[in-house]
Amino acid sequence: MEILGIDIGFGFTKASSGEQNLVFKSVLGEPIDIQFREDMLTVETAGEEHLQIEVDGKSYFVGELAERQSNVRFFTLDQDQFIGKFAKVLALTAAARMVKGFVPINLVTGLPIGSYRKHKDDLAKLLVGEHKVVLINADGQRDEKSISINKVRVIPQPFGSLFNLMLNDLGEMGDKRLVRDKIGLIDVGFRTSDYTISDKMRYSERGSRTTDSGIARAFNVIATKLRESSGVNIELYRLYEAIDEGSIKIRGKVYDLKTLTEQVFGQLATTVANEVDRLWVDDWDIDAMVITGGGGAVLAKHLQPLLNGEVMALDLKADMRMYNVNGYRKFGQHLWARGSAPSSPAE
Ligand SMILES: Nc1ncnc2c1ncn2[C@@H]1O[C@H](COP(=O)(O)OP(=O)(O)OP(=O)(O)O)[C@@H](O)[C@H]1O
Ligand SMILES: [Mg+2]
Repeated sequence: MEILGIDIGFGFTKASSGEQNLVFKSVLGEPIDIQFREDMLTVETAGEEHLQIEVDGKSYFVGELAERQSNVRFFTLDQDQFIGKFAKVLALTAAARMVKGFVPINLVTGLPIGSYRKHKDDLAKLLVGEHKVVLINADGQRDEKSISINKVRVIPQPFGSLFNLMLNDLGEMGDKRLVRDKIGLIDVGFRTSDYTISDKMRYSERGSRTTDSGIARAFNVIATKLRESSGVNIELYRLYEAIDEGSIKIRGKVYDLKTLTEQVFGQLATTVANEVDRLWVDDWDIDAMVITGGGGAVLAKHLQPLLNGEVMALDLKADMRMYNVNGYRKFGQHLWARGSAPSSPAE
């Protein structure tokens, strides 16, 4: 039995098995026949792998491959559509890449707080069972796999980060402080910001909410400005690298993004800090706050000074996009590999 964590985010799908990690953009595309597949020079193109899968008789390009090669691309920021049309293909792509066929999988995954109740049973039902898929490699070779998902546990997304901090790789309790204390979690993702409180490991409904203050909001402002100045409509998921580098080249012209990015990230951080203040107004006894999610990493420098209270230090070297999924996997380890189940916030 293999224990997997899969975090199907609006921006990125993340997976972890302990030994292996995988991250790709949550973009699907229609496959096209690529007639010239050789790399023109043997230069390492890190992380750009050929992800192509057949699920339920339909073939998809997935992640960066879809972004670069597909004429028709699918990407959504709508929760119902995401669960209905994307979640299964993205999760099975991750699972198929991570495990050998026929090895039963126990899976921990998550949902934003705001759609947890509505979708948790649907999501589990979608994923559990035997799935016949075909992975297709860059040479067009087909690798048929039977993905057998034995158990699925769905938890509210930010709890992944809490488990990641609390449990060691074997799923054993490491940091006891997090179990005893009242912790506020701020998970800034691509589309959503998720807030939740763990009070001595109990989930607080009052202190939990999902809002639309994800990084996409800042990206939208930048995309709009770029459309005004360049006339090109840039899909949001094509902006990560440019914003990270501080400039973008569109039809030969370079546009500086540094000043604008600082400004919109500053505004977004203010919005997030205000949401925290309002949501946790009665929870002035929070011991520490945790900023997490890939968006949390890029906003932290703006956000940290605006939060009223102790903020736990971030691991600056870690890829914060992986925080929830690493916690999912450790929680799975705790549930299924140690024999004894802890009290879970998801029950
Ligand atoms: N190495 C990186 N590559 C790309 N984006 C990164 C990286 N590091 C941080 N980011 C930021 O992470 C954000 C995505 O974070 P994350 O993967 O946590 O979102 P998500 O879980 O897909 O979204 P949601 O929680 O809304 O469903 C991006 O918008 C980007 O700003
Ligand atoms: Mg997320």
